[in-house]
Amino acid sequence: MIDADTFRAALGRFASGVTIITARDADGVDHGMTVSAFCSLSLEPSLVLVCIDHTASMHELLLSHPTIGVNILSSEQETYSRRFAAEEDDRFDGIAFQRGEHGVVLLEGALAHLECELVRHHDAGDHTVFIAEIARASMTDGEGRPLLYYRGGYAQLSR
Ligand SMILES: Cc1cc2nc3c(=O)[nH]c(=O)nc-3n(C[C@H](O)[C@H](O)[C@H](O)COP(=O)(O)O)c2cc1C
Repeated sequence: MIDADTFRAALGRFASGVTIITARDADGVDHGMTVSAFCSLSLEPSLVLVCIDHTASMHELLLSHPTIGVNILSSEQETYSRRFAAEEDDRFDGIAFQRGEHGVVLLEGALAHLECELVRHHDAGDHTVFIAEIARASMTDGEGRPLLYYRGGYAQLSR
């Protein structure tokens, strides 16, 4: 075992993109949170995974395996990343979005959107690993750059 500071220092050196995961509950209320523990998992079938803290307010909703939206953030969307990781009355207030086929929020300006069905989950320490099959995907053309997270801060791709 290693201590928490060593864990953060070592794992923080693994640069990642940033996503906002969205879902709707049974009453039609939108939920969303910032997630960097996201990665592609399988091509055939097309699977991705996200790791969600047991204490996150969306955790219980995700256990019921709703459709989720995965919004891959652009470098212009750092404020969204901060907002969806902070205490806000309504994280969606004033934000432009469209809805996917099953109603999930797809944020305007994201580099790519995935609409996914959660198919499995596995408890792992203080997080749950959710495995999701991609039903639909769309992406922006052109010069959009990703928002990156590295060593506890936001970073930009310089190429
Ligand atoms: C850049 C960034 C990446 C994050 N990645 C994750 C993640 O992968 N999994 C997770 O459970 N929380 C992650 N968080 C923390 C949650 O976004 C944050 O705790 C959020 O407030 C949880 O939603 P809640 O306040 O509705 O419970 C991340 C936060 C930031 C700023």
